[in-house]
Amino acid sequence: SENHPAQPPSGVGLAGLREAAAGCRACELWEPATQTVFGEGPETARVVFVGEQPGDSEDRTGEPFVGPAGRLLDEALVEAGIDRRDAYVTNSVKHFRFRPTPKRRIHQSPGAEHLAACRPWLEAEFAVLQPEVVVCLGAVAAKALISPSFRITRDHGQLMPWTLPGTEPVPEADQDEDAPHQTWVIATTHPSAVLRTPDEGRQAAYDALVTDLRVVATTLA
Ligand code: URA
Repeated sequence: SENHPAQPPSGVGLAGLREAAAGCRACELWEPATQTVFGEGPETARVVFVGEQPGDSEDRTGEPFVGPAGRLLDEALVEAGIDRRDAYVTNSVKHFRFRPTPKRRIHQSPGAEHLAACRPWLEAEFAVLQPEVVVCLGAVAAKALISPSFRITRDHGQLMPWTLPGTEPVPEADQDEDAPHQTWVIATTHPSAVLRTPDEGRQAAYDALVTDLRVVATTLA
């Protein structure tokens, strides 16, 4: 079977993008997956959360961050004072990549080729949303959107001026907290990483996630 580069249509809004992405054949992940899991949230959202890829529950339901990681994210958002209904939630790769086993489908990290193939959808979402803050959840999104050398443990929680991929940079003189249309990027721990943390460290990992999300809440306030 052949791959056809993702070519998001323009001027169709999020609903039109979602519809087009449902038939994406830009990489091979579509075939074993149940469906494309597109981003979810209002077109007016000022903040966009970018995860890695849908998991098992997301693949089945077609919605991002609805499984165990999503429930932890919801809880952390409430604690940080961010209403998920005001946020847009999406993923770097929009199909679930997994290794099938008799008992369950085991998550496999997306490869560089999957990230590259899916990237036009993420950029199209940004172009429609024009978000003020982009939050990278975990290393995959942070490396793809901020820098390949980004390390979550070292660099999480830092709000940085950012240029939406595919748009003109904001002149340095306008990079001020009071200036409108400035875009910021920040990265934090992936909720799944909190869930994978051994018992004795899990509360601290969760608290660190909430602390980073409070930076986002302050920026939006
Ligand atoms: N993990 C992710 O990165 N994204 C989801 O949508 C669910 C789990």
